[in-house]
Amino acid sequence: MTTALPAPAGPATRTPWWRDAVIYQVYLRSFADADGDGVGDLAGLALRLDHLTQLGVDGLWLNPCYPSPGADHGYDVADYTDVDARYGGLPAFDALLEQAHARGLRVLMDLVPNHCSVDHPWFLAALAAPVGSAERDRFVFRPGRDGGQAPPNNWRSVFGGPAWTRLDGTDQWYLHSFDTSQPDFNWHNPDVVGYFDDVLRFWFDRGVDGIRIDVAHMMVKHPDLPDWPYPADGSADYNSYAQNQPEVHEILRRWRRIADGYDRDLTLVGEVWVPTVDDLARYLRPDELPQAFYFDLLMCRWEAPAFRSTVARGLAEMAGAVVTWTLANHDVHRAVTRFGLIQPDTGPGSADVVGLTVRARGEVDVARGERRARAALLLVLGLPGSVYLYQGEELGLPEVLDLPDDARQDPIWVRSGGTEHGRDGCRVPLPWRAGAPVFGFGPGPAAWLPQPDWFATYAVEDQWTRSSSTLNLHATALRLRRRLASDLGGAGLEWLDVPGRQDVLAYQRGPVTVVVVFGSEPFTPPAGWGRVALASGPVGVDGALPGESAAWLT
Ligand code: NOJ
Repeated sequence: MTTALPAPAGPATRTPWWRDAVIYQVYLRSFADADGDGVGDLAGLALRLDHLTQLGVDGLWLNPCYPSPGADHGYDVADYTDVDARYGGLPAFDALLEQAHARGLRVLMDLVPNHCSVDHPWFLAALAAPVGSAERDRFVFRPGRDGGQAPPNNWRSVFGGPAWTRLDGTDQWYLHSFDTSQPDFNWHNPDVVGYFDDVLRFWFDRGVDGIRIDVAHMMVKHPDLPDWPYPADGSADYNSYAQNQPEVHEILRRWRRIADGYDRDLTLVGEVWVPTVDDLARYLRPDELPQAFYFDLLMCRWEAPAFRSTVARGLAEMAGAVVTWTLANHDVHRAVTRFGLIQPDTGPGSADVVGLTVRARGEVDVARGERRARAALLLVLGLPGSVYLYQGEELGLPEVLDLPDDARQDPIWVRSGGTEHGRDGCRVPLPWRAGAPVFGFGPGPAAWLPQPDWFATYAVEDQWTRSSSTLNLHATALRLRRRLASDLGGAGLEWLDVPGRQDVLAYQRGPVTVVVVFGSEPFTPPAGWGRVALASGPVGVDGALPGESAAWLT
């Protein structure tokens, strides 16, 4: 028996470019450094655009590159309509955009609307202005409890510690859902609404093809700012008063109207962490976000039934929209490490309820993680919808788990008092050439985070020369996906039964059958499923797929 699921819907008239696009996420400061200061920049990215075209992606998403003091590496924005001089400023951005477009690559900016930086002129003006002023009202200032001694409510920052900081010598506190250096905007204030309309238009007018929206579910807070009933044992929890409030949808609809006012296809892709897929689907209504990341695969156990139900739930709940798949990003442990985790530690957890799963600590079997991550890639690239690929995942890089403490920079590390390592381990600058200083990351003597010696094994140039490398697997899969695009475009997905093998997942889409072996025993697909066009592991002479591998049959 098979279960048919609906094909993804697209606009009635034409297919938008982003529907099946594979977008490469560029964490700019760790991608490539042209000026030798140890931090990646736009000129470095421009010099390495060949990597993206050779890989075969359709575009790139640039993590924030605005002027910023860098407390959260750009997610603390000081000026939304400029580019940081350390990355090359607006001229370097324009040049990059032109070069990317000349190669047929789309470019997405990253917008951070929930909060800015303490260096943003509005926040500086708010600090200088009196209590109750128009300047203060653009942020969330409140008097503290106990005569100003205690925070106005019990909300916790996603990065750990209280979500409020007190202004020295006063009873006033300001809200920051993340670091102290990232004050939350007051989205009930029309100045804020109008400001972001202009910011959006600024980047669309400049020529970008879309925008990734940082914590798109968080802008609006419950108007009364009530205490959240956190669990008594102090464990992490999802504070629904601080996020996923109904009014957030109005803002996103407004932005959709702005995007739709242009005469080219623009996408808005939301970073939306909400409790259920049903909640997520509400962000994808026809007049709201065209795309929102479906993060559930990041939290999925390496088991066939878990993957099947996660994929099926996503396709069913978001039927009528385009599902946006991803296996990694700059906030989570790299896929090889997540899939290779043998036994999670039960040590100190994360302040962030999601962080507990996506950055779980414990012993890792890297070889196993690599086999699984390669298989998961083929699983995801076969699905209907678009895929986001985080830089370094195409190299099969594991997380750098043992960075020296004094090198760590993530505010999560600082705010948790060193109990949580945070996200530096997936942000270590990329290795381009094995024998070169800083592995070819740039001409300087050092990179902003130290690269371990074993990065040599993963260097880009080396991997292109090895046909079985993870880089070549990505490039081959993307080429094949593109070749099959016209047959796959509108095709829905049909699960295939695999009698006697609970650990094998198989689905068919148009002319392709995707088979994933989750267990360690080999599996020989029935002859009727077609011939192996691509496999993530060595296929036996009899056509047997090894354990922990995947294949596309055509
Ligand atoms: C989500 C981003 O992905 C993360 O990197 C950042 O720290 C927070 N939002 C705060 O902007």
